[in-house]
Amino acid sequence: MGIARDDAAGRWAAQRRNWAFFGAPVAGVVCMHRDFGSVDAIGVGMFLQTLLLALNERGLGSCVQVSIGLYPDVLREQLGIPDDLTILCGMSIGYADEAFPANHVATPRDPLCENVVFLDA
Ligand SMILES: Cc1cc2nc3c(=O)[nH]c(=O)nc-3n(C[C@H](O)[C@H](O)[C@H](O)COP(=O)(O)O)c2cc1C
Repeated sequence: MGIARDDAAGRWAAQRRNWAFFGAPVAGVVCMHRDFGSVDAIGVGMFLQTLLLALNERGLGSCVQVSIGLYPDVLREQLGIPDDLTILCGMSIGYADEAFPANHVATPRDPLCENVVFLDA
């Protein structure tokens, strides 16, 4: 994004855009009941992935943001999120600004063999 690694103020300013949902017109907060465990979190993750794919299919961009959950008290107060819901993450939704450099960052993926162990029967 044109911010030097040693530009602490610039990096923080860029990071702060998380809490403005990057200027997106729609924002979401993903929660899960506090009694649910890691198995249920798999279900929430699958829901979220499906939602992202559906948005993408309709030409919409999105950004899942764990940073949104770093200030849960603010979210609870402002959005009326009850205590029995655990806040997992936030998400920004909108049409991607193609002129914004961060939207052209291609995060590389490890090859399949780094993540999957294939066992011969
Ligand atoms: C669980 C999770 C949490 C993330 N939290 C943030 C965040 O707080 N802020 C942010 O800018 N990006 C965050 N990201 C990254 C963006 O969502 C990222 O653009 C998106 O995962 C697309 O990934 P890709 O660039 O690897 O394809 C997060 C990603 C994941 C999977």
